[in-house]
Amino acid sequence: MRKKIVAGNWKCNTNLQEGVELAKAVDTLVAKEAADDVVVVLGVPFTHLTKVAETVNTNRIGVSAQNCAAEAKGAFTGEVSAEMVKSTGAKYVILGHSERREYYGETSEILNKKLALALENGLTPIYCCGEPLEVREAEAQNEFVKKQLTETIFNLPVDEFKKLILAYEPIWAIGTGKTASSEQAQEIHAFIRSIIAEKFGNDVAEETSILYGGSCKPGNAKELFANKDVDGGLIGGAALKAEDFLGIIKGF
Ligand code: G3P
Repeated sequence: MRKKIVAGNWKCNTNLQEGVELAKAVDTLVAKEAADDVVVVLGVPFTHLTKVAETVNTNRIGVSAQNCAAEAKGAFTGEVSAEMVKSTGAKYVILGHSERREYYGETSEILNKKLALALENGLTPIYCCGEPLEVREAEAQNEFVKKQLTETIFNLPVDEFKKLILAYEPIWAIGTGKTASSEQAQEIHAFIRSIIAEKFGNDVAEETSILYGGSCKPGNAKELFANKDVDGGLIGGAALKAEDFLGIIKGF
């Protein structure tokens, strides 16, 4: 049975003190009210990783970086390596987020290097894909997403691929309040699962968790998560309020 997962992506928000307070609040609410079969992950800024890993019950809540370097180590000022992320107690790393691709020029070539280093260091990548509005309006989203995956994670050996969590995030739904409809989400999640099956077989496809991201809120999580191919969410804005984040977790 594939995992049900709700991962928060705090992005570039909260200072360390605010982040620790938010993590404490999420930890308390999850311990009291979250179903045990829902995996909870917090994607926090690099500066918060160690402290958040010390603050939450890491047997119940996983800590994630939002990125890692494309190099293992060396003269790359300002970069944070996968090994460094791992050393903080983080177990996950979000890779390929559309904001990294758009604002920081992350190509498939760069992402392949990051994926390899994350996996080498025992981190679980939460690997993002998703199309811009003009692609959706042209009804070309399937081809767009297939290209993103074919250029990167479909080149992994199957035992490495099986370690991944996927996140489909339509760019036009991120931060806009324009959530994909339940039908749109199910349709493309089923498509993604079908191309995983083509590449790696039905068993692997059935075991791969595919999260939805893009204006997922407490008010729409239940409908989104009711879809057979939607295995949870990658949450931005709503993850910054502990009660809202719990509301999404309770959407299953
Ligand atoms: O990675 C999750 C994020 O891109 C979704 O953001 O604010 O639309 O939930 P938001």
